[in-house]
Amino acid sequence: MCGIIGYLGKNEASPILLESLRRLEYRGYDSAGITTIHNGKLFVKKAAGRLVNLADLLVKEPIRGKIGIGHTRWATHGKATTINAHPQSSNNVSVVHNGIIENYKEIKKQLIEEGYFFRSETDTEVIPLLCQKFLDQGYSYTDSVHQTVDLLKGQYAICFLFENNDDLIFLARSGSPLVIGHSRSTTYVASDALALAGLTKEITYLEDGDTAAISREGTTIFDSSHKNVHRSKTFVSINAIDLQKGGFKHYMLKEIHEQPKALAKAIQTVTSENWLDEASVGNLPLDEIEGVNLLGCGTAEYACMIASYWFENLAKLPGRTEIASEFKYRDPIIKPNDLSIFVSQSGETADTLSALRYVIKNKGHNLSILNNLASTMAKESTYSLPIHADLELSVASTKAFTCQLVILAGLALELGKIRKNLSRKEYEQYREGLLNLPGYINIILDLSEEIRKIAQFLTECPNALFIGRGLMFPTALEGALKLKEISYIHAEGMAAGELKHGPISLIERTFPTVVLAPSDYLFDKTKSNMEEIQSRNGPIILLSDARGIDDVGKDVDFSLTLPKVHPLLTPIIYTIPLQLLAYHSGVIKGLDVDNPRHLAKSVTVE
Ligand code: G6P
Repeated sequence: MCGIIGYLGKNEASPILLESLRRLEYRGYDSAGITTIHNGKLFVKKAAGRLVNLADLLVKEPIRGKIGIGHTRWATHGKATTINAHPQSSNNVSVVHNGIIENYKEIKKQLIEEGYFFRSETDTEVIPLLCQKFLDQGYSYTDSVHQTVDLLKGQYAICFLFENNDDLIFLARSGSPLVIGHSRSTTYVASDALALAGLTKEITYLEDGDTAAISREGTTIFDSSHKNVHRSKTFVSINAIDLQKGGFKHYMLKEIHEQPKALAKAIQTVTSENWLDEASVGNLPLDEIEGVNLLGCGTAEYACMIASYWFENLAKLPGRTEIASEFKYRDPIIKPNDLSIFVSQSGETADTLSALRYVIKNKGHNLSILNNLASTMAKESTYSLPIHADLELSVASTKAFTCQLVILAGLALELGKIRKNLSRKEYEQYREGLLNLPGYINIILDLSEEIRKIAQFLTECPNALFIGRGLMFPTALEGALKLKEISYIHAEGMAAGELKHGPISLIERTFPTVVLAPSDYLFDKTKSNMEEIQSRNGPIILLSDARGIDDVGKDVDFSLTLPKVHPLLTPIIYTIPLQLLAYHSGVIKGLDVDNPRHLAKSVTVE
């Protein structure tokens, strides 16, 4: 949430900061700003709205300096105005900040009483003013930063710049990621190694509680007790090329089309012998597990819901899904033989991370299923499994979701085998079902134009319902989430059986229902729900396989024929057209599908 960048080198900082901020825009994009130092003086430029506004401002009013910090914001405290944009500055200190300072009100009150003047509504502004106070009292840069962070409560990644010192960027990390990138004569700082793609591959990850002083002489890192500490460098393999759209109009479309390849990689992993041993999960006592808790947020939570059906069906293990943000508020009981599984693309989502920390504190078995293996959750979980989706940049999750599902299906199968709930024949059927998925997804991607026509109709309606039974229920929830995120059409997902208990009162000619109904043992029941909708003039968009469409396709307003796959794998297949439906709806409405309003890809505040 929010993106940070810093530069100290031999070239003009502002174009480099701006380019790196472009790569971080997915983390927040309601305002942006940079500070540089030239001839000892701080120069700050900020603009509300998308990064392009800052870029335009810098063309009109360029700023010089070979040191600088930059920020792209997702507002928490204070509206998305220029004044609230970062950097936030005092007379001599300029700061960019990710996270939330929870005790900012007390600090602000105290500073105002001491005569300090605040301009913004942000929590962040207390940081430069506090630091200014310690500098005013004669403390060194290092001591001023250390005294400042000692007073802060909450989570933060902070970069400090100081007037009259064009050879110092100070950093502080607590709860929000921050990395240092090294190249020959240059040091970079970023909230995400991704921002440094094409600039350097040599990265130092700061740990929680660390502060660091970067100068042209080198970098000094301090731990949480402010003692010098060594943090090793690692090499990351993100290429600048991975950040391009590869001929697609949007990252979202590119990522939807990358699914056959990404899934093939994930499927290859979970269908190979002893894959859990190879993934270093071998020591997890899977044979002792008596129940599974699945936790995540947003799309990841729907992956958890789907997987809970798989754990129950394939492994006969009670599977419980939890919204990560609610988990710890009900004093959950962590049983010694329960396995808590945390699902997150970024590995940084604050709510999921906090649920993970709760389980670790209560000594529960824990396993994270992640796309970012350099993330905080990867570091803190006892075990983690990669989903093999590669970079996902569009804010709405697409390929990460389906790859999460493959890994979760693989895990449920493995548990089914260990618990002797699956015969060899059944196991082979699931395995074959998984191996066939990439081919089927390619068939669905070819339906894009047909789906665009349905989207054209949807965009004429202010609301939409998504319904399904069994595994199609959480799939419907994901379809509705995707549509509202990308097209701003109000959409609700629900269990088809719940319709008659209230929501059916909403049905009318302009309120379509997307029905997810593979021709399985639940088909006839969902068919009855469709008839209830039709008898109230509600339009129906039916997604089914050839048999289902043969049966009722002619009676509905729109239908889409999807491949018939193994019944347990339908969520992966039925999600693809729902992603395309949301994508086309957003594009038809002329919206920025990669960066929907008010959202951010990685939500690092609770
Ligand atoms: C944000 C994103 C969603 C994502 C959720 C969880 O809300 O907009 O697309 O599903 O965070 O993110 P995670 O990185 O934990 O999977």
